[in-house]
Parts: sequence; structure tokens; C-alpha cells
Amino acid sequence: MSNLFTPITIRGEKIRNRLFVAPMCQYSANNEDGVATDWHMVHLGTRAVGGAGLVMAEATAVSPEGRISPQDLGIWSDEQASVLQPIASFIDSQGATPSIQLAHAGRKASHKRPWEGGDVLTKEKGGWDIVGPSSLEFDEGWVVPDELTMEDIDSIISAFSISAVRSVEAGFRVLELHLAHGYLACEFMSPLSNNRNDSYGGTLRNRCRLPIDIVSAVRKSIPESMPLLVRISATEYMPDGWSLEDSIELSGWLKEEGVDMIDCSSGGNSPSQNLDAFPGYQVPFAAAIKKEVGILTGAVGLITDASQAEQTLRNGEADAILLGRELLRNPYWPLNAQVELDGQDSVWPPQYVRARR
Ligand SMILES: Cc1cc2nc3c(=O)[nH]c(=O)nc-3n(C[C@H](O)[C@H](O)[C@H](O)COP(=O)(O)O)c2cc1C
Repeated sequence: MSNLFTPITIRGEKIRNRLFVAPMCQYSANNEDGVATDWHMVHLGTRAVGGAGLVMAEATAVSPEGRISPQDLGIWSDEQASVLQPIASFIDSQGATPSIQLAHAGRKASHKRPWEGGDVLTKEKGGWDIVGPSSLEFDEGWVVPDELTMEDIDSIISAFSISAVRSVEAGFRVLELHLAHGYLACEFMSPLSNNRNDSYGGTLRNRCRLPIDIVSAVRKSIPESMPLLVRISATEYMPDGWSLEDSIELSGWLKEEGVDMIDCSSGGNSPSQNLDAFPGYQVPFAAAIKKEVGILTGAVGLITDASQAEQTLRNGEADAILLGRELLRNPYWPLNAQVELDGQDSVWPPQYVRARR
């Protein structure tokens, strides 16, 4: 059997294969209330039917000001969690593991959704006050964030842990914390976006204090048997910015706090990042962190072929493969990949058997 279709057990969760659906914002909560819609059921449900091992719901905001756009999913209320529950349940009914990514967008919050132009939404245009580690805007023309006080930081940490509890109650069995792409935690981690001089700024350890505090609070509020993943930007592609060496150090600290897998992405914290994406461009980050830290890693980014995914696992570069855009193009990619790699299709749904080749 291929490595890709060999189950993986993380803590108490056995996942049927190592092909995970990457978290992807759908910007489709209808009434700007963060509540999931039929779109989310169909979108996530289809990817579960398509044979993925784990289906991860998009960056879901732990508080209203942590949304990227007014249409982002949220999980700061019981109502939001109760509408996510049947979605998690459907994913589970298809044999896939339901998962959710918890997020706070920090200084990159309050934008129109991409297909409406993605512009900054000022308060006058229906946006909201945004926050960050320091009063440094992401780019020219962006809103300057309010620097978070110690009290604000405490409430963000507890928003993550309360949202984690709600996620468990909604039936999600794997949690991922979004520490990447220039959103709040990532902003704290980088010396380019964090110029605080309290215990959350300065040294590497201080800059990593927020992600570590969030992980520690979340780990304590979820079952011992529940896998906890984090997504990081392994480098920010900027001179003097966050580096792979920093990621290795952080991953060691997060492992001690009970993180099970590092989902290795990159970039997103600077508009002038020097990023040259090519097939599998982030795989070396997953490989380095796995090797140096001895922790499970996920590889993501321009992985589109079954053989490429299989080779990455076989080389020992990562333990799971996350697919994003390829699964938007073809939600049934795993069904076909299993035929290609193993000559069988055990994940094929019985309702579709007549379409088998
Ligand atoms: C429509 C879209 C939405 C995305 N939303 C998120 C998100 O919510 N959280 C996240 O960590 N990454 C997000 N990403 C990044 C993907 O998870 C993935 O890392 C990226 O697309 C690279 O993988 P790919 O080449 O397989 O698409 C998004 C990407 C796309 C295309």
C-alpha cells in the first residue's frame, strides 16, 4: 500500500489516510455573523466524499475583530458552533476526520472579500478597529492596528481556548491553530511586525510567547486524546525577518507544550517578501523541522500529483500532505490518487460505484 493511503494515528485519532484538505477561507458566512451556511456543508462535505483523510474547515475567527472579512466563519458564539456541528458530523459519516483551524487575523483583519476586490475596510466603510502587537501597518494604505495591552492579550488567549472547547463540542476531532501568514500570532513572532518591549517582544522567546501561551491554554482545554496541529510560516522571505532556524526553535517549544504536528507553510507577513513558488516549494521546511525537532510535519504548497505526494512521504520529508487549490479543482482527487498509487479505491463512496472505471 502507498504511504499516502496508509492511515496515521495521532494521539487518539486514527485518520484513514495522509491526504488532508488544507484550510481554505470561503468568505461565505451570509449575514456577516460568522455563521456557516449551506455552502460550507456542500464544500467541506464534498471533500469528505472525495476521499480525503482529514477535512479541515477554514480559518475560523475566535473573535469578531479577528475576521479577515465580514463573511469569515466565526466560533465565538454557541450558535456558530451549533451550525458547524452537522457539518462535522457529515464529514465524519463519510469516514473522514473533521477538523477546524482557529484563527485571529490581527492587523490583516477587516477587508472586503477577494472577489469584491479585497480592499481595506475602514470603520466608515463597515470595517472595525484592528489590533496587532505594535502600531505598525502591514502595508501603505492599510489601517494602523491598535497595540494590544496585556489585558487584551489575555482575552485573546482565552478566546482561543473557549473556541477550542466549542470546536470539540461541535464534533471536530482535530484542531489546528493558525500561527502563519502574517496573522496575529505570526505578527508577534516576527521582529519586523513586533517592536514591543514587554514580555511579548524583543527576544525570540518573548516574540514566541503569544503562540506558546495560546497553545498551552488550548491544550489544557481539549481532551488529552485530541490531536493539536499548528500552521506556521516557516520563513517570511525577508532579510532580518522570521527564519527557518526560528521555526525550528519554536517547533521544539511547541512540541513541549503538546503540539502534535507542524503544518509548514510560509510567507504572508510582508508585502515585499521575496517568494518564488514552485512545485513542492515548502516541502524542505517540513523536512527540516521533522528532522531537527522530531515532530510530525505536514507538507503543503503546489503539490498536485499523486506521485509527488507519495514521494514526499516516502522520502521521510513529511507525515501528511495538505492539498489546497488542487482539491478546489477536483474534490475527488484522492479517489483517483488511490487508484493510481494502489490500484484500488477503498474510499470510493458506494453511491458512486457505478461511475468507477
Ligand atoms: C481560497 C483559499 C483560501 C485559503 N484560506 C486559508 C486559510 O483559511 N487558512 C490557511 O492557513 N491557509 C489558507 N489558504 C492557503 C492554503 O491552505 C494552502 O496553504 C495554499 O493554497 C498552498 O497550497 P496549494 O498549492 O495546495 O493550494 C488558502 C488558500 C486558498 C487558495
